[in-house]
Amino acid sequence: MSPLTDEISKRRTFAIISHPDAGKTTLTEKLLLFGGAIQLAGAVKARGDSRRAHSDWMKVERERGISVASSVMTFDYLNTTFNLLDTPGHEDFSEDTYRTLTAVDSAVMVIDGAKGIESQTRKLFEVCRLRDMPVFTFVNKMDRESRDPFDILDEIEQSLALDVTPASWPIGMGREFLGCYDLFRDRLILMARGKGDVPDDGVVCEGLDDPKLDQLLPAHAVAKLREEVDMVRGLCPPFNTQSYLEGHMTPVYFGSAINNFGVRELLSGLSETAPSPRPQPSRDRMVVPDESKVSGVVFKIQANMDPKHRDRIAFMRLCSGHFRRGMKLKHVRSGKIMNMHNPVMFLAQDREVAEEAFAGDIIGIPNHGQLRIGDTLSEGEDLYFTGIPSFAPEYLQKARPDDPLKAKHLGRALQQIAEEGAARVFKPALGADWIVGVVGPLQFEVLADRIRTEYEVSVHFEQTELYTARWVEAVDDRAMKAFFDANRAAMGEDHDGASVFMARNAWHLNKAQEDFPDIVFHKTKEQT
Ligand code: G4P
Repeated sequence: MSPLTDEISKRRTFAIISHPDAGKTTLTEKLLLFGGAIQLAGAVKARGDSRRAHSDWMKVERERGISVASSVMTFDYLNTTFNLLDTPGHEDFSEDTYRTLTAVDSAVMVIDGAKGIESQTRKLFEVCRLRDMPVFTFVNKMDRESRDPFDILDEIEQSLALDVTPASWPIGMGREFLGCYDLFRDRLILMARGKGDVPDDGVVCEGLDDPKLDQLLPAHAVAKLREEVDMVRGLCPPFNTQSYLEGHMTPVYFGSAINNFGVRELLSGLSETAPSPRPQPSRDRMVVPDESKVSGVVFKIQANMDPKHRDRIAFMRLCSGHFRRGMKLKHVRSGKIMNMHNPVMFLAQDREVAEEAFAGDIIGIPNHGQLRIGDTLSEGEDLYFTGIPSFAPEYLQKARPDDPLKAKHLGRALQQIAEEGAARVFKPALGADWIVGVVGPLQFEVLADRIRTEYEVSVHFEQTELYTARWVEAVDDRAMKAFFDANRAAMGEDHDGASVFMARNAWHLNKAQEDFPDIVFHKTKEQT
C-alpha cells in the first residue's frame, strides 16, 4: 500500500444525525474524550451559560442555547483518524446540515431509547439514504426507562425501511441497566455507573453459556439475556458489511452516552467497518481519494469565526491527494491560483495550522470572500464536484436597513451572505427592497445579528406576502421574455443574476406553471 493510500484508509469522516435532545452533544463529547481530544468531560457541553461552548461563535446561538453552525472535530483513536462533522440539530438550520452530510462518508444516527425515531432523525436519514450512506445506530439513554429493544429495532426497520442487526444487546434498562452483551465479540461489558470514567475492557465470554455470566450478573438478568439474544439472533440477519456499506443495513448499538457507555464499542465499530473516504462524483468523472493530485470541494462557509479578525473560513473536504501547507491550488470557478498559506484544522475547541492533510480530511481556508459553497480547488484540473444542494427558500422577508442611508452597505452585506450560501437574496425587478429567503425562520435573526456585527448595518426584516421562490429557465429567450412581461411584479434576480419567480401563494405558482409550459421552474439551484 502506498503511504498515501495507507493514510487515506485510516480516515473516517462522519457526522452524527439525531433529533434535538437525543444526546448528540453528549455523545460528541464522549467521542472526543475517548479520542483524547479533550481531557475533561464537560468541555464540549459545559453547563449553564457556557453550554455548547465549542461552537459558540455567535451571540444568537448563546442566547438561544442552540448550535447554529456545524463544526469539525478531528481526533485519533485506535490508529484511526476521525473527522467528526457536527451538524446543528435545530430544524431551522437543516440546510447547513444537508450540506455537511455531503462531506461525510458515513453517519451515526443517535436515537433516544424512550422516543425511538423522531421527525428530525427521519428527515436526516432520508438525506443519508439519497446518497446511499452507511449508517450506524446508537440507541441512547438506556439508563432511563426506555422502550423495549425489540420494539426499537422493529421501528427502525419499519419506519426507515432499513435492515437492522444489533451489535450489542442491553441488559436491563433504566435503574436496572447493567450493561450490554457485545454480540460481535461475545463480550460482556458492564457499566460503571456514575463514575464517569472510561469503562473497563469488558469480560470476554465463551458465548452466552459461559458460567462467568452467572457469576457477574443476577440470575434473572442472565436468564433474560440468554433468552433475548437467542431470539434476536433468530430474528435479525447477521451483520453483513457489504449491505451496511451500501446503506441497506444498520448495526445497532445500545448505550448511555452520559455514562460513557457503549461509546468505545461504537468507535471500534467505526474504525473497523465504517468506510474510509469514498470516491467523489464530479461533473466529468469520479475522483478517487488516492489520486496523487490534490482536489477538494467547499461545502460550507463560516464567517466571523473569530470576531477579532473578520475572516471567513471556507470548509473544504479534500477529495483526493496529500495536501501540504503552502501549496498553490487553482480556484476552478475563477481560474485564479490561491496560495494555501494558513489552512486550519479543527481539534475539539481549537483550531491550528494544518501542515498537511489527506483525502477525507476537512481543512478550513481563511479567505475574504473568494470562496463560495460548491467551489473546487485543484492542482490544475477543471473539476466540478456535484451534489452540494441548494434549497428553495420557504420563508421570504424584506430586508430594510434601520438607517436608509445604509442601503448600499446592506446590499453588499447581503450579496456576500448569498455568496456564502447562508441565505438566498433576491432583487425584485420592481422596487428597491431586497428579499431574503431562508429555509427556517430563525435564520432571519441569525442574519440580522451577523449583519449588525460583521457589516455594522442595523437591519430589520419585514413580512412579505410571498410564499416561495423558483428559479426559472427557458430554452427559448422569447418564451422567457413573455413570461417575464406577464409576471413583472413577481420577477427578480438572485445574487448571480439568475431569474427568479416569487410566488404569492401555491395557487399563483401553479397558475404560472400551467400558463407557461415552456418555462422550467427549479425548486433548487445547484451551486455555481
Ligand atoms: P442533543 O445534542 O442531541 O440535543 O442532546 P444533548 O447531548 O444535549 O442531551 C440532551 C439531554 O439528554 C441532556 O440533558 C443530556 O444530559 C441528556 N442525556 C444525554 N445522554 C444521556 C444518557 O445517556 N442518559 C441520560 N439519562 N441522559 C442523557 P438536559 O437535562 O437537557 O441537559 P443538562 O442539564 O443535563 O445539560
